[in-house]
Amino acid sequence: MLSIKFLCVGIISMMLFQNGESCTDPELEFYENGLHHKDIPKILHQHNQYRQAIMDGTVPGQPKGIGLKHLKWDDKLAKSAQEIADKCIFEHSNYVDERWRHKVCENLHHSSKAFFAPNNSNWTKAIESWFSEHIYFRYGPIGPGYDKYGHYTAMIWADTELIGCGYAAYDNNQEDTGLDVSELYVCHYGPPGNYYHRPPYQLAQEFYAEQSL
Ligand SMILES: *[C@@H]1O[C@H](CO)[C@@H](O)[C@H](O)[C@H]1NC(C)=O
Ligand SMILES: *[C@@H]1O[C@H](CO)[C@@H](O)[C@H](O)[C@H]1NC(C)=O
Repeated sequence: MLSIKFLCVGIISMMLFQNGESCTDPELEFYENGLHHKDIPKILHQHNQYRQAIMDGTVPGQPKGIGLKHLKWDDKLAKSAQEIADKCIFEHSNYVDERWRHKVCENLHHSSKAFFAPNNSNWTKAIESWFSEHIYFRYGPIGPGYDKYGHYTAMIWADTELIGCGYAAYDNNQEDTGLDVSELYVCHYGPPGNYYHRPPYQLAQEFYAEQSL
């Protein structure tokens, strides 16, 4: 069972940023929380591959873009993302980073399964699920339909250059469903994108047209 949410305007010793000692609801318990070191390069690589694919014009249905910044890891965004994961609630925060005086873009991915296995998070799947929303996006300014594609546009927003993510696996106390292990994947993006009335990136075509005037 998978579900995802986004928002902005939209093994212990291996872990970084292990902040929360318990979930918000004391009935819920962590199996694991924090990010493994091995995940950071993977998360960065997958995001930057998608961003490069936009600039290469190889994303089906999406026009070729220019100027998408290469994303870099940001410890402060990773810390804030981990704090959200540590709540064990699949719900958006309104986290504001003072660097931009604005809510950061926050992508959430929740999955539930029957059994917990340590060191078994699947970031590839979480990031892929966000990116797959491109099929709902027709290039142009972000508008009212953005609940269908907002994870995607947050990831490929040209001016965004920093990312930090967090993770928690916990007992969701829903034994009756047979899927009582929840995993929460959270990424924060800054400077935030998804501004209404603005497209996520500039088109390569327009750019060259302007250059030739
Ligand atoms: C976690 O899994 C990775 C492979 O995905 C492995 O390289 C690493 O050693 C594992 N770490 C622990 C603590 O099991
Ligand atoms: C992670 O999920 C993807 C599907 O999106 C799958 O292809 C891959 O095998 C999974 N990785 C692991 C280690 O389970």
